Amino acid sequence: MEGALTARDRVGIQDFVLLDETTDAAFLSNLKKRFSKDLIYTYIGTLLVSVNPYKELDIFTKKQMDLYMGVNFFELPPHIYALADNAYHTMLTEFNNHFILISGESGAGKTEASKKILQYYAVSCPSTTLLNTVRDKMLMSNPVLEAFGNAKTLKNDNSSRFGKYMDIQFDSQGDAVGGHILNYLLEKSRVVHQNHGERNFHIFYQLVEGGEDGLLRKLGLERDCQHYNYLTQGECAIVSSINDRNDWKTVKNALQIINIDEINTNHLFGIVASVLHLGNVQFDSDSKGQALLNNNNNAELRWVSNLLGVDATSLQEGLTYRKIEARKDQVFSPFTIDHAIYARDALAKAIYGQTFTWLVSRINESMENKDPSRKTVIGLLDIYGFEVFYVNSFEQFCINYCNEKLQQLFIQLTLKAEQEEYEAEDIEWEPVQFFNNKIICDLVEEKHRGIISILDEECLRPGDATDLTFLERLEDKMGNHPHFVTHKLADKMTRKTLERGDFRLLHYAGEVTYCVVGFLDKNNDLLYRNIKDLICQSKNAIVRECFSAVDPDSRRRPETVATQFKSSLLKLTEILMAKEAWYIRCLKSNESKQPGQFDEALIRHQVKYLGLMEHLRVRRAGFAYRRKYEVFLKRYKPLCPATWPHWRGMPADGVEVLVQHLGYFPNEYKMGRTKIFIRHPRTLYATEDAYEKCKHELATRLQAKYKGYRAKGEFKKQKEAATKIETCWRGVQARKEREKRAWAVKVIKKFIKGYMTRGQAKTTDNSEYLAFVRQNYLNRLKENLPKTVLDKTTWQSPPAVLTETSEILRTLHYRLMVRKYVRGITPQKKAQLQLKVTASSIFKGKKESYPQSVAQPFVDTRISEQEINMRVLQMIRNERIKYSVPVIKYDRNGFKPRPRQLILTQTAAYVIEEAKIKQRVLYTSLKGISVSSLTDGIIVFHITCEDPKEKGDLVMQCDHLFEFLTKLSIIANKQNAIKVVQGSIKIEIQAGKESAVDFSTGQEHMVYKAKNGHLMVVATRARTR
Ligand SMILES: Nc1ncnc2c1ncn2[C@@H]1O[C@H](COP(=O)(O)OP(=O)(O)O)[C@@H](O)[C@H]1O
Ligand SMILES: [Mg+2]
Repeated sequence: MEGALTARDRVGIQDFVLLDETTDAAFLSNLKKRFSKDLIYTYIGTLLVSVNPYKELDIFTKKQMDLYMGVNFFELPPHIYALADNAYHTMLTEFNNHFILISGESGAGKTEASKKILQYYAVSCPSTTLLNTVRDKMLMSNPVLEAFGNAKTLKNDNSSRFGKYMDIQFDSQGDAVGGHILNYLLEKSRVVHQNHGERNFHIFYQLVEGGEDGLLRKLGLERDCQHYNYLTQGECAIVSSINDRNDWKTVKNALQIINIDEINTNHLFGIVASVLHLGNVQFDSDSKGQALLNNNNNAELRWVSNLLGVDATSLQEGLTYRKIEARKDQVFSPFTIDHAIYARDALAKAIYGQTFTWLVSRINESMENKDPSRKTVIGLLDIYGFEVFYVNSFEQFCINYCNEKLQQLFIQLTLKAEQEEYEAEDIEWEPVQFFNNKIICDLVEEKHRGIISILDEECLRPGDATDLTFLERLEDKMGNHPHFVTHKLADKMTRKTLERGDFRLLHYAGEVTYCVVGFLDKNNDLLYRNIKDLICQSKNAIVRECFSAVDPDSRRRPETVATQFKSSLLKLTEILMAKEAWYIRCLKSNESKQPGQFDEALIRHQVKYLGLMEHLRVRRAGFAYRRKYEVFLKRYKPLCPATWPHWRGMPADGVEVLVQHLGYFPNEYKMGRTKIFIRHPRTLYATEDAYEKCKHELATRLQAKYKGYRAKGEFKKQKEAATKIETCWRGVQARKEREKRAWAVKVIKKFIKGYMTRGQAKTTDNSEYLAFVRQNYLNRLKENLPKTVLDKTTWQSPPAVLTETSEILRTLHYRLMVRKYVRGITPQKKAQLQLKVTASSIFKGKKESYPQSVAQPFVDTRISEQEINMRVLQMIRNERIKYSVPVIKYDRNGFKPRPRQLILTQTAAYVIEEAKIKQRVLYTSLKGISVSSLTDGIIVFHITCEDPKEKGDLVMQCDHLFEFLTKLSIIANKQNAIKVVQGSIKIEIQAGKESAVDFSTGQEHMVYKAKNGHLMVVATRARTR
């Protein structure tokens, strides 16, 4: 229950004891809140309040039963199974007797509740074949009793018209071994009269509708309810909610199970049929007003005499005459019609009522447990609740009296239980404020002074006692009783609400006004003597058995109905007082039997008349809540650091520490021997709220831990999976690698073999290798081809197999390059190259500085015409200037260096100094040209010199030696005249006068006149490239 404390806003609280305020409004609001959520059960302590949902809920399944088995009362939501189970287990552990009192208005669900409890025991108790038959009998007694004792009323299509107390006996193992039923006050008047919209007892309709053809024939019945007066008054013989034909089969089957043999079954149906026939017996009156049997009715009467096994004439007599015994004489006094009808109906009621009692005793016989060992019992009391109608009669008076008794019982038992608990727990008893209804019980039942006594007196006294005289007697005796009012006794205001024939009782549950009409008759319940004598002779065994029990000779009047009822209630009270009580209070949600309708006014009324608020107040007086220390500590220990997570000491000490920590005030709680008592619900709520908050924190912590744990597990799993995948993958890789290696070994082996046999002719061994070598070489070659014709080194050396190919390719490639080169050459370049070729042919391999010059292109001239003096130009105008270059001329005398321009024309070479032509050397006279083999730029023109006046050889130094001489050689056609001289060059200074130019090498270029008179030229070493 504590678990649901937190949901109290949403679904209401599960125990009214914990309501903040004990007002009707709060009570109803809680009930309504729960009802709207289909929560039909709510506790008041251990009392169960049940609201009829008028629809099937799925809370009565086998699964639900299993759920509630052996579970503590407060651990699960309120349920009838919880109550049944707790009663059962308390009985087993404490080995004592219990009863469950089910009360409520007609149609509130009492009978359904008692059936649910029986079903629960049928499933939850241990079972054997023997026990199963007991169980079947207990379960099957229900349809039989319902057929004979239930009827459709305005309030309930299956209303029990009798009170029922059933003991279920259990042995020490908890097996259900037997049962016993007590019945109370069957509403016999229904046999002969039904209000509009109501029916007679089910069995009549079941027989007429469902009875086999043969049976009906035997019983003289027509298959038509409309045919019978006792079935048609309510004008609703057939109702859609009731299937009489099916029920008939169930009842027949049930009769067998409860051991009613065929003969008795026949007798039983004979009685039922006889009642129907009796109802059809009509009377006429003769001229004197005496009742005569209607002639058309002979057949019906015969059927009655036939079925009951009595003499037809005597029966007819009995119904129309009264036998009066005056001393030894018998006088027959004829009836009026009214009397006759009264006698007929009295007979019908009597035989039906007695048969019902007989049936109950038969059921009891069949359920009886013959084992004498001690048994414990759970009693189920399904009894009418408080009834308040528009007009209330004798029956309501009895019923309400019964409820007063039960309320009295409840108060005594509850207070007793509370007191005992306080005593056991050593807690001081605090007087409880509640209304004790003993005063009303006394008003009804007190010997000589109570209403029942006065009623009996009126019934028995000689003279003309009537209902009204009875009322007067009441007024006399009860005149100033605070709970009794009549029209005469009432004050002005109240009088308006009372008729003259009414009396009003102020019951504990509220006021009820009774109309005295019929009280005497109903209390007397007289069967005329001669009829009684007659049916005592009945050949119908059941009837005979029923009526012979009453000594026909006894002159004593039988007990009145009220007195019988009173004594049976006293007996019941005794039975119940010796047992532990459990209560179920059934409430009807609405009058129209509709699901989902919560009729507040109707329910408020029932709450009042069931005394639920009284009950609640008694329960809450003192302490609203109490729990065993262990249970309390177990739940709330997280609220205190000293008790969480474990309390090592005694639970009571732990609870003390805990409530101190929670700040309970001393008057809010008491510490009992085994339990803590909490006075106000609000204290518990505060604790529960704190617990709820704390629980969330705890839950979060637990959750985090759990999540961590889960994550770890998950991680481990993933890791394992990863490792597994890795291993597999590695395996795959390794296998691949191995295959690759094997393949590689094969390839390498083949390669090596190929390599070793590469020189041989092509075989299978080397063909691949050779192909590879070829391919490889060709690829290499392609990437590394020489870029220029001059590049002779880059060509890749071929493998043996491709030597020839390589040569061919090389030739091709060079040719291609040459071709490309040649194609790309311009005429200018060609001329230049031709000059270079000439230069090459003259100097290559001879003069040291030649290689350096090869790369220097030759130019057309080194001195442009603008730089040549105009006069010189004029002087040589006739000859075309081919080439000019600056030179240094060495004087013949002393070899002084003189810068000069040297101009080559078509015919001669001119040495020019500014505007002067210093010398003109005709090509024809130029017999030779010498240069050294070194790096210097010295050029010697050997000139034919015949005349000494003529100038001798010309010695010059020119920076562009090769260009100059090449041009000269071509212009003057002197290729062969140019000599590269090793050592000194002889020169003729004048005709016949010789000298020389000597050459040496040194660090620095120098030209000077040596001591020997020669021109000394020191050439630098040519830089090697
Ligand atoms: N727990 C329940 N669930 C569903 N319907 C119910 C329940 N209790 C009672 N009823 C309905 O109410 C009707 C009257 O119930 P019943 O037990 O015969 O009332 P009572 O015995 O109090 O007169 C039933 O026939 C059934 O239709
Ligand atoms: Mg009932």
